[in-house]
Amino acid sequence: MNNYLPEVVFSGIVSVRDRLLQLDNPLRLESGEPSFDTPSHITEAMVRALADKETHYAPSTGIKPLKEAVLRKIARRNKIDYVKNPNHVLIVNGGMHGLYCAFQTILNQGDEVIVPRPNWTATAWMIRLAGGQTVFCDLKPEREYRWDPAELESKVTPRTKAILINTPHNPTGGVMQREDLKALLDVAAKHDLWVISDEAYEDVIYDHEHVSVASLAKEYPSKVQAKIISCYTFSKSYAMTGWRLGYVVCPNDEFVNQIKKMILYTINGVSTATQFAGVAALDGPQDAVHAMCAEYRKRRDLLFEGVNSSPLMSCETPPGGAFYLYARITEEWSGSAWELVNHLIDTYAMGAVPGDIFYDTQKSIRFSYACSTEMIEMAIERLNSTVQVK
Ligand SMILES: Cc1ncc(COP(=O)(O)O)c(C=O)c1O
Repeated sequence: MNNYLPEVVFSGIVSVRDRLLQLDNPLRLESGEPSFDTPSHITEAMVRALADKETHYAPSTGIKPLKEAVLRKIARRNKIDYVKNPNHVLIVNGGMHGLYCAFQTILNQGDEVIVPRPNWTATAWMIRLAGGQTVFCDLKPEREYRWDPAELESKVTPRTKAILINTPHNPTGGVMQREDLKALLDVAAKHDLWVISDEAYEDVIYDHEHVSVASLAKEYPSKVQAKIISCYTFSKSYAMTGWRLGYVVCPNDEFVNQIKKMILYTINGVSTATQFAGVAALDGPQDAVHAMCAEYRKRRDLLFEGVNSSPLMSCETPPGGAFYLYARITEEWSGSAWELVNHLIDTYAMGAVPGDIFYDTQKSIRFSYACSTEMIEMAIERLNSTVQVK
């Protein structure tokens, strides 16, 4: 057996989901699955591609029309206008696959990656599978879950290879501001580090503009630009979780030459017809993306108020992006975060995820509001009906 795999575990979110699915009408506030369907012009593009017999092998790093659509999109939406070469775009099997391949490509045994804490569970395991070590740097509610640059730099050691960022952030909903990203780039440039930017929630953002770290690198030397790996997915923006489509952008020939092998020997390319759907998503109307975001904003406001009206939890500021609300558990609840989650499942058939899953050392809980508004309303009603304080 491989040495790493036995120590890698499935996310605790799976155990919450499995228990909920045994109940009648569970409220799925544990899951990051959009309640919306993929916009029909995207689905139709795939059907058309199949009818046009786009059923053959595609180049393993992606079809040219999709790479070109990505270049247009990153210039328009992300302001990364200095990447112009389609070879610097790699089409992958979803956000997770892009991140996995990126870590495999840059890490050697024992290399350290600075990662926010709390953080989406999968990242630490992907780093481990690539032989790397995770070094956590805390995100704190009093700083709206944005890093303190001095604290970030204090985590750099001679073994540090990369910094991972995820903005908007899962699980806190925190959004990094332009000045945070500039400070981070200064640290990366000074210590010659890679920056891996997970932008899975770029379109689920409420009160600020999404800033891509690579867009700020224009003012830095090209060797800094060449060490920024921007990872994107169609999953959340276009409600395309089941399609498994994403892309990685990095203006670095050597990186591209190596990551190509990871893509070739893991998937040998994303399904051809799916890639044509991706072209329609990026080049087509973005109304559905904006409409979904507007709906998430309403759900956020609803849940923010609902959670804060429970004596068991408190969330200081409304999350600025993604579709998660992260709350501290108050002293009214003397048990652990896991016990509170179990209580919500057993008493209210309601899902949530304990902060422990995200490596948090404080007693916290994450609710997702990607589920329907009706589910959120019912969850709030149940939370406020008979609060049983442990
Ligand atoms: C922070 C973050 N990054 C990346 C992903 C990957 O998404 P996918 O593999 O569905 O594209 C997710 C999924 O939940 C996520 O939460």
